[in-house]
Amino acid sequence: MQYSLCEIIRGNSDILLKQMLQKGMRFDLILTDPPYNLNKDFGNDSDKLSLPEFLRVTRKRIELCRDLLTDHGSLVWFGIHHYIGFIQNIMYETGLNYRRLNIWYYENGFSRSKNAPLTQYEPFLWFSKSPHIWTYNVDDVRIPYKSEKRLKTPVYYKGSDGQRKLWKPNPMGAMRGDVWSYPTLAGKAFAKEKTSHPTQKPEALITDLIKAFCPKNEKGLYEGKILDPFHGSGTLGVCCEKLNKQGHHIEWLGIELEEKWCKIAKQRLSNI
Ligand SMILES: C[S@@+](CC[C@H](N)C(=O)[O-])C[C@H]1O[C@@H](n2cnc3c(N)ncnc32)[C@H](O)[C@@H]1O
Repeated sequence: MQYSLCEIIRGNSDILLKQMLQKGMRFDLILTDPPYNLNKDFGNDSDKLSLPEFLRVTRKRIELCRDLLTDHGSLVWFGIHHYIGFIQNIMYETGLNYRRLNIWYYENGFSRSKNAPLTQYEPFLWFSKSPHIWTYNVDDVRIPYKSEKRLKTPVYYKGSDGQRKLWKPNPMGAMRGDVWSYPTLAGKAFAKEKTSHPTQKPEALITDLIKAFCPKNEKGLYEGKILDPFHGSGTLGVCCEKLNKQGHHIEWLGIELEEKWCKIAKQRLSNI
């Protein structure tokens, strides 16, 4: 079977990733949100594994993703606080190179339980294939400066040469930190974006991750191949296509086991 890019494939990543590797396919960015093993109902048992089985399949998937990356490629992998430590360990063991453990922070978390803190974040790991080269488009994901005062009054710092230097704000905004703050798709405010998928990610978050980690061409446009092997309701494809509508050249591929999520993803794409 041939896989063209910019499409959704209904199938099992545990099989398809091996086939893609054999066909010589490679990706600049694998940006994915796999089952966290929290017993969610995706219409299959993929989120209901014993811990040893979850870690076994996760290791296999990470090894395949590592081999599917281009030499300068990156793997961005969402997880949950329960298991992210195991997954980070697996990534080190597979020879990938640690770049950052990031946090997706949301203020609008919800909890029924009162005997533990409310969950307000999901971690996501960024590892690169190479220890030396990777893509991070720092200027594309700058955020507004918090303090107006800091922008108006001169700020001094000690340079590496020991000299006192005047700090000047970057006109494009402050450098983003590793805490990425976007609300979850809860409530009326997100009713238009939200589908029936139980763990749909916000487009704002995924779009910024694409902007941060997708390579660019000499014209400054995003041009790269992106894979999401656990595509769900299709957020990655939707975000890539919205960027492509602005003139970028992202080739993407989403794999999803369940027909119903593929249908929803196709519907979302057709609405763009
Ligand atoms: C956490 S959800 C992804 C949600 C997605 N990021 C979104 O915004 O809609 C994980 C998805 O992976 C799918 N899945 C589980 N095992 C799979 C496999 N072996 N191959 C392909 N998809 C799989 C599930 O059906 C589920 O829809």
